Amino acid sequence: MSIGKVVSMSSRLVTAIAPSSKPFFEKLLRQGQLMKRAFYYFNDARLVIKYMHWEGPEIEHEKLRAELIFQYHKLEKGLCMPGPKRFFGADPAKATLSLIRRWHEQGFRKDSTIYLGAIEALRSYRAHIDLYPPQSDGAQGLAQDIDTLLKQHLDILVDLRTPMPHGTALATDFESLTRLMLLRRSVRSYTSQEVDIGVLRECINSAQYSPSACNRQPWRVHIYTQADLITALLQLQNGNHGFGHQLSRLLIITVDMKSFFDGTERHEPYIDGGLFSMSLILALQAHGISSCCLNWCVKPDTDVKAHLVGAIPEHERIVMYLAVGHAAADAMVPRSARKGDQEIVQLH
Ligand SMILES: Cc1cc2nc3c(=O)[nH]c(=O)nc-3n(C[C@H](O)[C@H](O)[C@H](O)COP(=O)(O)O)c2cc1C
Repeated sequence: MSIGKVVSMSSRLVTAIAPSSKPFFEKLLRQGQLMKRAFYYFNDARLVIKYMHWEGPEIEHEKLRAELIFQYHKLEKGLCMPGPKRFFGADPAKATLSLIRRWHEQGFRKDSTIYLGAIEALRSYRAHIDLYPPQSDGAQGLAQDIDTLLKQHLDILVDLRTPMPHGTALATDFESLTRLMLLRRSVRSYTSQEVDIGVLRECINSAQYSPSACNRQPWRVHIYTQADLITALLQLQNGNHGFGHQLSRLLIITVDMKSFFDGTERHEPYIDGGLFSMSLILALQAHGISSCCLNWCVKPDTDVKAHLVGAIPEHERIVMYLAVGHAAADAMVPRSARKGDQEIVQLH
């Protein structure tokens, strides 16, 4: 018998004998319910401890890739800083070289845009060293090490040169974006026309340009197309009643916890994952594809079930389900009035 049931039974017994104790037991039960939910944090903590670290001898592709981006992005950023130029970045440059060595040892793909991006960051950084030489001797070896690596990469075909000039918005961009924002609504009435997977991929590629902490792009998108699988996954989610049955495509957006170096980044999966989701939703809308976010506010055991049913690895956290489809011609949407800016802005 659960603790909750024992407290509930005892409270009934005691309040029958001493009715004045009723408020006390009611409060105890309420707090017990809240406490029970606080235990969900244990599951979060377990996953953070298990997956959110870059320590240990094992070399995994996800972790190495995330760490490589994390290090070379410091060089990319440094090269764009305003103000007087100076030598910088010896530590991240050394770390980048060391991670590239490990990449070679592991035989990971050298045509990966992340790998090539690292090479290009080192190429620009090397030119910077020539212009702003280090004061200490320690960095001399660094320049030679970079030269040796660059000699192996004279024929990069994709243009990943970094940094690059910042673009300028067109006069019509704000208008177009606002129109798109107003057009996007959570749609709950769809036709049976299937959304083309190629179009989904195109939208995902566009959403790839979402910002993420150190550009680690930790999100993943699971696309489900089989009716029975979609039904099984939707049964685990509580917000699709009345319209989920129409879906011929369901997306689950997850974030790979191995992209993060430790528990200080524990909220980052939802921040990066949320930003990506919004970009994807807008990209879909721009393609005329409607969507509806489906919350993933579930107990840990439901989360485990969805990972099993959806073949999602445990180290990926589910950010949300996303219903996608072609809106029915007569689809209606809630007005869902928005707060005015005076209600949400605090000008300091
Ligand atoms: C994270 C998240 C979870 C949501 N979950 C659900 C859901 O489970 N079921 C649903 O019908 N709508 C869901 N929605 C849609 C919201 O109800 C909707 O975005 C909100 O009411 C504003 O309306 P609009 O999207 O049409 O502008 C969710 C939205 C978000 C952002």
